[in-house]
Amino acid sequence: MPAKIKPVESLKLNNNLSIPNVALGTWKASPDDCYNAVMTALKCGYTHIDTARIYRNEVSVGRAVNDFLKQSDVKREDLFITTKISPYEFQDPENAILASLERLQLDYVDLYLMHHCLAEVTGEGIMPRDENGFRKHIPPEVFSYVDAYRLLQKLVSKGYTKSIGICNINVPKIQRLLETKDLIPPAVVQCEIHPYLPQHDLVEFCKANNVVVEAYSPFGSTGAPLLDDPDIVQIAQKHDVTPACIAVSWAVQRGTVALPKSTTAERIKANIILIELDGDDMDVIDNIHKRITKRYLEPKWKLNVYDSDADFRPYT
Ligand SMILES: NC(=O)c1ccc[n+]([C@@H]2O[C@H](COP(=O)([O-])OP(=O)(O)OC[C@H]3O[C@@H](n4cnc5c(N)ncnc54)[C@H](OP(=O)(O)O)[C@@H]3O)[C@@H](O)[C@H]2O)c1
Repeated sequence: MPAKIKPVESLKLNNNLSIPNVALGTWKASPDDCYNAVMTALKCGYTHIDTARIYRNEVSVGRAVNDFLKQSDVKREDLFITTKISPYEFQDPENAILASLERLQLDYVDLYLMHHCLAEVTGEGIMPRDENGFRKHIPPEVFSYVDAYRLLQKLVSKGYTKSIGICNINVPKIQRLLETKDLIPPAVVQCEIHPYLPQHDLVEFCKANNVVVEAYSPFGSTGAPLLDDPDIVQIAQKHDVTPACIAVSWAVQRGTVALPKSTTAERIKANIILIELDGDDMDVIDNIHKRITKRYLEPKWKLNVYDSDADFRPYT
């Protein structure tokens, strides 16, 4: 029986706005490639684009979005544009978002995410590093991710962003944000999530607490290693679809937002085709991590940024 095709849907955020459950990722897309990728994506039905200050391609994203809006009947409010504040900007989020909006040539973004839970020193450029190549953070006891988030939330009432959230976070740190009285809850958290790192606990916790989870690196990041996984390949063959379709469909079916990145036109078009997986498929993919667990992205900081404790501990 042919696989049942499913549409991209919108998920409700905890501030009553909504978010499409598939986005085009743009990390490592060079400015020219990025323009073409975003234009291709918008023309084939994506309405959600994910970029960041640090990707150095906000200008291309904004040019493609604005050109597309001029060429089509689609309105700005029909699109969902996300960008991210870099850790070296955490102490001055208003200037950071104004600079991003200037590069994007937009009046507002739909989602502004803190890119990490650790601030970097300011005044030393993008991604400041010490002589050993470690990123130079501000110790959390001096300026924590909660302090940064408290400053960030002012951008919502100023109209620069519709929603805010945070990336590369774990359950205790989300809990701390939710329990801190003077903070609006994050609408979204964005983390590395794929079959080798399904983060079941985090996904369940966020579901229970009304926070939407975005799954980045759904194919295992550069080179898409997960698309060669034997279980993923077998399920793809069973349904006569691509492994990429299986990875994105699994992410969406468990209630997360999938962020597949590609700058290849044919792949961009293919990565938004979703099918309905059956219970056996979901079960197999949910359990792949028992055979192989792997995190692909780990920034070189002197602190373990993914530690499950509420505070960071140094690498040993
Ligand atoms: N918040 C964060 O810290 C963070 C971190 C990482 C990622 N992200 C976001 O999440 C997005 C996705 O993650 P990612 O870029 O790390 O990796 P990904 O989407 O898991 O994988 C991207 C890789 O897969 C390839 N690919 C894409 N579609 C394919 C297909 N259908 N068949 C075979 N290969 C395919 C791409 O190649 P081509 O481009 O050459 O087609 C690229 O090499 C990022 O772009 C970014 O927007 C956020």
